[in-house]
Amino acid sequence: MAIEPHGGKLVNRFVSDEEKLSKIDYATKLKKIILDEYLSFDLDCIAKGIFSPLEGFMGEEETYSSLETMHIRKSIPWTIPILLDISHNLADSIEISETISLYSSENGLLGTMEVREKFQLDKRYFAEKVYGTTDEQHPGVKRTYSLGDIFLAGPVEVFDKKVIEFEEYNLPPQQTRTIFEERGWKRIVAFQTRNPIHRAHEYLTKCALEICDGLLIHPLMGTTKSDDIPGNIRMECYKALIDNYYPKDHVLLSIMPVNMRYAGPKEAIMHAIVRKNYGCTHFIVGRDHAGVGNYYGTYDAQKIFDRFNPEELKITPLFFDHTFYCQACGNMASIKTCPHDTSKHVVLSGTKVREMLKKGEVLPEEFTRKEVSVVLTKWAQNG
Ligand code: ADX
Repeated sequence: MAIEPHGGKLVNRFVSDEEKLSKIDYATKLKKIILDEYLSFDLDCIAKGIFSPLEGFMGEEETYSSLETMHIRKSIPWTIPILLDISHNLADSIEISETISLYSSENGLLGTMEVREKFQLDKRYFAEKVYGTTDEQHPGVKRTYSLGDIFLAGPVEVFDKKVIEFEEYNLPPQQTRTIFEERGWKRIVAFQTRNPIHRAHEYLTKCALEICDGLLIHPLMGTTKSDDIPGNIRMECYKALIDNYYPKDHVLLSIMPVNMRYAGPKEAIMHAIVRKNYGCTHFIVGRDHAGVGNYYGTYDAQKIFDRFNPEELKITPLFFDHTFYCQACGNMASIKTCPHDTSKHVVLSGTKVREMLKKGEVLPEEFTRKEVSVVLTKWAQNG
């Protein structure tokens, strides 16, 4: 039996082919809201059921419930509200129970939304609850402060999926679930990443695969910070790595069109829930998962799972300590499995890696496979 989607049912908010023409015709006559790239990714996630059980952007009660209790609808875990913001002026022209159309500046008409609520939110409170800080240097907080002052909530209907680069790898939850079933995988572990896969990441995924049937390598490809490595370069790295070092019949590479929030612990829970919707039974959480700067403790994203009953999350987190290559052990290890002191550990900071790549140096094989290093060096040299 496949794992149940979050909240019990995989949501699908796409308009059927039969209704599409008439609904598009109707939508073009409605008041218009333009979504930025971030919101159009959120809309796509709602439509595909990636954010099941959400059927639209969240309302006031659900938002406060999520912020205060980390649950919505009394008993469903949900840690990061999914919101649609607009300006005061625009909000004034929209009535409750009116249906509006949703557009993107690049791709035109995306869908419609039945406006059930308009509400305001204390942004500092939101930032504190989701990101654990009100510091504007935090990328999630910065975005929160820049949002419009009014939030619209209500169910959406979407005409087409959002097409992104590497669309052939952008498998929606329904499809990954089918693939897992066809392959006969019962225990499936998902690996979230927004980086190239270095040796430490590879080690986590392979340890996890030892106790599972299949591994979903599931890089996040929604919006990320401008200094994160671009998706197309990461994709080259993933393919090079999988071609050379992973067993094809136990691994699936697919991407996830979810925006990065950099919310550390709260985002780790969200990442796990989303992977449950994709049909995964296990989820890897290592050091400083979804972290940025020094806002979170190294293992905060693991500790937060203790605040949920395993029965309500259902997906099983697999926790890993800080991992690295140890020259004395002669293999990958973690602080839990290695007795040697840190002088033997090959650990490179992000800054050091960027410096080496800029100079055209190949990263040490203990840190990154040469196939990955070649891709990264070429990119840094051309950039
Ligand atoms: S994240 O923002 O997606 O968490 P990243 O791609 O670096 O960033 O990490 C992906 C996953 O690998 C996360 O679960 C993270 O905690 C884990 N991870 C990254 N590096 C290490 C490491 N050296 N040791 C243990 N876990 C790690």
